[in-house]
Amino acid sequence: MTKKLNHLGIIMDGNGRWATARGLARTEGHKAGAKTVSRILEACQKRDIHYVTLYAFSTENWKRPAGEVKVLMDLFNDYLDKDVAELQKKDIRIHFIGDRSRFSPEIQKKMKRIEEKTRGDETYHLILALSYSGRDELVRAMKQFGKDICFGKKQPEELTEESFSSYLDTAGLPDPDLIIRTSGEQRISNFLLWQMAYSEFYFTSVLWPDFSESDLDEAIDSFEKRERRYGQLL
Ligand code: IPE
Ligand code: IPE
Ligand code: MG
Repeated sequence: MTKKLNHLGIIMDGNGRWATARGLARTEGHKAGAKTVSRILEACQKRDIHYVTLYAFSTENWKRPAGEVKVLMDLFNDYLDKDVAELQKKDIRIHFIGDRSRFSPEIQKKMKRIEEKTRGDETYHLILALSYSGRDELVRAMKQFGKDICFGKKQPEELTEESFSSYLDTAGLPDPDLIIRTSGEQRISNFLLWQMAYSEFYFTSVLWPDFSESDLDEAIDSFEKRERRYGQLL
């Protein structure tokens, strides 16, 4: 039962509260949170973590006020233009999970281009969950499987845990070993529902913009002390 941290998932929460506590607009918290992303990704690569999934924007987050959604979209756009070019140099392949049909054509085009450009850089993987929710992913996967049955491409008997996984946005990616959630909330908020069957969880009250390399190390230390049994006896 390996304890190697191969895939880390992070629910990056607390940007709004970080800003409010400083008398700033919530959107300032998102800008500060974007800086933390770059810092923590670098720290993950230093620690040789091969897969990092960041929950950046949920399906439910579309229901936030239009002004806040707009600032988040502008930040993604900037991120896709600037930071991603940097990641490319560092041998990091980018994947996007979520319903990208809801993004502007401009953002969708950039996503596609970045995925294509970084394909082949296989050592490190950054998976960005944007317009993502676990239930939505499961429903989209089921729809696709249903269509494949209708068109005679699949038989219902062919549905197994393994074959179903290949219909998910995360097809081909390993399940997360550890999921960190910042900001003190102890819930999943529709993150990788299928994939987290045997993930370990680490909750910290640190707000995402304040999350530091030493906070990351604390989470990793905690993970390394866990005994993962997968339902078996050791
Ligand atoms: C997380 O921070 C970022 C997104 C969900 C986009 P929040 O915006 O949820 O910050 P809080 O939880 O309100 O403090
Ligand atoms: C979860 O945070 C989603 C992301 C971090 C992108 P939320 O702030 O949206 O979740 P709730 O509302 O606290 O459950
Ligand atoms: Mg939140």
